Amino acid sequence: MPHIVTLPGDGIGPEIVAPTVELLHRLVCDLTVVEHLFGGASIDAHGTAMTPDVLAAMRASDAVLLGAVGGPQWDTTDPDAPRPEQGLLGMRKELGLFANLRPVRPFPALYDASPLKRDRIEGTDLLVVRELTGGIYFGEKTRSATDASDLCHYTVAEVQRIARVAFRAARTGVTSVDKANVMETSRQWRQTVHEVHAAEFADVPLDDLLVDNAAMQLVADPSQFDVVVTENLFGDILSDVAAMLTGSIGMLPSASLGAQSAPGVFEPVHGSAPDIAGTGQANPLATFLSAALLLRHGLGLESEAQALESAVDRALAEGLRTRDLGGTASTVEATAAVLAHL
Ligand code: NAD
Ligand code: IPM
Ligand code: MN
Repeated sequence: MPHIVTLPGDGIGPEIVAPTVELLHRLVCDLTVVEHLFGGASIDAHGTAMTPDVLAAMRASDAVLLGAVGGPQWDTTDPDAPRPEQGLLGMRKELGLFANLRPVRPFPALYDASPLKRDRIEGTDLLVVRELTGGIYFGEKTRSATDASDLCHYTVAEVQRIARVAFRAARTGVTSVDKANVMETSRQWRQTVHEVHAAEFADVPLDDLLVDNAAMQLVADPSQFDVVVTENLFGDILSDVAAMLTGSIGMLPSASLGAQSAPGVFEPVHGSAPDIAGTGQANPLATFLSAALLLRHGLGLESEAQALESAVDRALAEGLRTRDLGGTASTVEATAAVLAHL
């Protein structure tokens, strides 16, 4: 019996996770779902963003569905105060979720919902492979009254394993994004990616691109890309840029995967959207599409995953548009539109 943990989190998190669970129950009749506090909600209840009990529950599950964490009520510049984002980073590290897959596949029905011109977006079908447990996010941090620092650190082994994920996912090629003209970690990243390529994937076309140029190319000519592999911080930024190819950050799903033995975590790329939380306007589609990735990668239910993706596709083709896509549909209406096609 498949068993998942849900972590609705903060802001719009609970508003988008609840309808997603409804869809999952519709698709998988023997699914068990256990919900836990996470992020700011867990700080309020327990003083920490992720309790050991919740981590243990995740480890015991087949997959985790996450909403989003964070919000102004927990924002702080005090280095010793708990922050919701610590739950997210702690979970990724503890579960060893080093590979973050962020597919960017604009729906034809939404080409005109993007601020970019249709002819720029057409044909785009790319995958951002973001390294998720290394780099500047997890290096040593210091802070004194007069200075602060964040260390960017990567081991060769960390780069090798994310490079392998990228090469295995490639259909037409891999673009490795770095800042090798400035950063030592990037120079070793580039060398390592090329060594893995030469030794194991020499038949896959490989290009290097500097990250500033990559940001520009993603909006100027996105259909040139197949798999884009990059370090943690660059992947965070580039995937929000790429989100706009789909019309809205509310459309982009993600899967965070690690070793076979660990459960994957599936979550939308966007945050807790405090500016619209509680208004009923949140776009739930990124979370629905994350649930499709959960069905595919977490539970091995490929046909259920496709059923969900195609229901989203058909609802959009019939005109479903939430506010962020220039329409008026509420979260409830968007859910009903997708359910109608399941
Ligand atoms: P955000 O992604 O929450 O919001 C950015 C903008 O996009 C806002 O205008 C918001 O209304 C809109 N938006 C986002 N998701 C939407 C959706 N589903 N439907 C409609 N509109 C949507 O980014 P932010 O405002 O910079 O961050 C808010 C909080 O979320 C911060 O505390 C941040 O740390 C956190 N955050 C969490 C995650 C996560 O849990 N994985 C990811 C990113 C940001
Ligand atoms: C994301 C988010 C997180 C990140 C934050 C909230 C820590 O932006 O999942 O993309 O930077 O990884
Ligand atoms: Mn982000």
